[in-house]
Amino acid sequence: MKIIVTGGAGFIGGNFVHYMVEKYPEDMIINLDALTYAGNLETLKPVENKPNYKFIKGDIADREFIFKLFEDEKPDVIVNFAAESHVDRSITDPEIFVRTNVMGTTTLLDACKQFGIKRFHQVSTDEVYGDLPLDRPDLFFTEETPLHTSSPYSSSKASADLFVMAYHRTFGIPVSISRCSNNYGPYQFPEKLIPLMISRALADEELPVYGNGANVRDWLHVKDHCQAIDLIVRKGADGCVYNIGGHNERTNLEVVKTVLRALDKPESLIKYVTDRPGHDRRYAIDPKKLETELGWKPEFNFDTGMKQTIQWYLENREWWEHIISGEYSNYFEKMYGDKL
Ligand code: NAD
Ligand code: TYD
Repeated sequence: MKIIVTGGAGFIGGNFVHYMVEKYPEDMIINLDALTYAGNLETLKPVENKPNYKFIKGDIADREFIFKLFEDEKPDVIVNFAAESHVDRSITDPEIFVRTNVMGTTTLLDACKQFGIKRFHQVSTDEVYGDLPLDRPDLFFTEETPLHTSSPYSSSKASADLFVMAYHRTFGIPVSISRCSNNYGPYQFPEKLIPLMISRALADEELPVYGNGANVRDWLHVKDHCQAIDLIVRKGADGCVYNIGGHNERTNLEVVKTVLRALDKPESLIKYVTDRPGHDRRYAIDPKKLETELGWKPEFNFDTGMKQTIQWYLENREWWEHIISGEYSNYFEKMYGDKL
């Protein structure tokens, strides 16, 4: 099979490329990424010389480029991770979220319609369901929960999901959608909560906690997300949505304190800052469908996953220090400059 992974130089896409290249040596994995600020080819160093891996630089919203790519490569499967993914950035600059997350997805769908595809998989998020109240721990997001978004980011992701389903119903494109809770693990860009707190705590810098830190997120290790997507792409029913989550709800304050304890740093580093506008209170996934229909089970719980993740950031300082210094953006030139 030939699989195009879009956004494979990002956090989850990069982990997915590693996973697929190792697990399926007979498949060809093409990593298509525009290398925005969030794309980092240093993440792909462990696989860059494997015979079943190839990187192509390109924009999913560039119609001419995407159609030519489909014509040349004739992919069997698309797994679409490429997106603008940070809620805070969507509050300051919503437009790029519409272009990449909505128009990029419809461009890929149009190419699937024109050239044919065995499966188009859309990597979506639990944020499309909006949020849950803090005082109702009995409530969870199921696949039937109505879409009810809060941020420009989640609105763009929900809009993309609606287009995916419309292309399935109207044009018969074989599709699946996964909606996962917050991920953590190796190679996450240090603007997101956990790597930001690890990198700042190691530098003895203040840790900015929005509001009172009581907002709840449902954390899943990125490897468990990758395994779930692989399962859904291969065995999931056509036209279906699957929620992915491992019942690891924590308040932001609990997460930050876990990082501080693991690094032996004082809680006095915590600094409460102005809350994010429209800040979602609680996310919590009910993954029953994925567990019962496809037999998925997460490998990590929050404690084992956080231990592994913090260790990874300690052992791979160069990877995130290059991001903080900006050095990572030169890697494409270094690696591919003479091949262009
Ligand atoms: P990320 O920001 O780390 O990576 C996004 C990647 O997409 C980057 O490599 C970037 O260069 C690339 N990209 C951006 N615009 C592009 C374009 N126009 N064309 C081609 N490539 C482009 O994001 P992530 O955290 O790895 O998230 C990946 C996907 O998973 C996103 O679709 C996100 O909505 C979804 N998701 C993320 C989480 C999470 O906790 N991070 C949870 C659930 C779902
Ligand atoms: P984030 O990693 O941005 O993911 P999302 O907003 O998509 O859930 O944030 C996770 C939680 O952490 C969210 O409730 C916002 C909070 N947060 C902080 O308190 N401080 C920070 O500096 C950041 C980046 C996030």
